[in-house]
Amino acid sequence: MKHLLSIEQLSRAEILEILDLTATIKANRGVADPKPLAGQCWAIMFAKSSTRTRVSFEVGIRELGGSPMFLSANDIQLGRGEPIRDTARVMGRMLHGAVIRTFAQKDVEDFAHYSGIPTINALTDEEHPCQILADLFTIRELRGSLDDLTVCFVGDGECNVPRSWIWAAARLGFALRIAAPTRFQPPADLLARAGGNIAVTTGLQDAAAGADVLYTDVWVSMGREDEAAFRIAQLGGYQINEELVAVAKPGALVMHCLPAYRGKEITDETLEKHAATIFQEAENRLHVQKAVLALLTRG
Ligand code: CP
Ligand code: NVA
Repeated sequence: MKHLLSIEQLSRAEILEILDLTATIKANRGVADPKPLAGQCWAIMFAKSSTRTRVSFEVGIRELGGSPMFLSANDIQLGRGEPIRDTARVMGRMLHGAVIRTFAQKDVEDFAHYSGIPTINALTDEEHPCQILADLFTIRELRGSLDDLTVCFVGDGECNVPRSWIWAAARLGFALRIAAPTRFQPPADLLARAGGNIAVTTGLQDAAAGADVLYTDVWVSMGREDEAAFRIAQLGGYQINEELVAVAKPGALVMHCLPAYRGKEITDETLEKHAATIFQEAENRLHVQKAVLALLTRG
């Protein structure tokens, strides 16, 4: 594995290797920390806001012996129009790796190509691979395995997080149901490309019935703020609440990538009842990304 650009580009074996190494890295944190990034400097170049991803990468790179360098895309020449391929060719000569959060998937792909250094997608409009790897790890940790798993995604089924879920389901073979209004369903060509056991519906209750995991994400993703009123009107009702939890499998996990907007995609009551799961999920971003960093620098 040279880069982590998407779940789409990972094989089942690579996903399972990341999850297995995550378990070891998490168990050994503070006990026997390997330092595969010793002497390395990694850029964390973000064009969008972040709390979890930025903090977990800064901490993770340090814990693995490296130095993180945070760069806001607006503060470097990229923000004034310098092409990504030129930025990449400069950074590739100075840095050992890059973690990039931006809009176009093509930009992280181009950065990886032109820089020649290990590149990690920390969220684009198309995928959020680090998030879904942490989610899979959390489900395996709490449920014991990923076998016979049914995940129900509720809300904006078109954005980066459900798209990465689609590829995870396709690669690992679990059942994924996406409940979303027609306008916010994943594109048909993506579903056809992915294959797998994936159902897309407007029927929220049917999608949630008997599910092992109920999962949601914000209704208004970063970069879509000008559509906020329309999205809130259209997605109203596609919410995880106690009524929906009642139709899922007893003891079902409720998950959220965060940040959460209470009263929109999830109620305050349901988020707080499942806070232990949701914040374990957030913490696991650190462990899974350390595993990814270690694998990318394995040589
Ligand atoms: N879930 C997630 O990626 O959070 P941040 O936007 O805070 O990084
Ligand atoms: N879909 C959300 C995920 C945030 C972590 C967004 O892109 O804003």
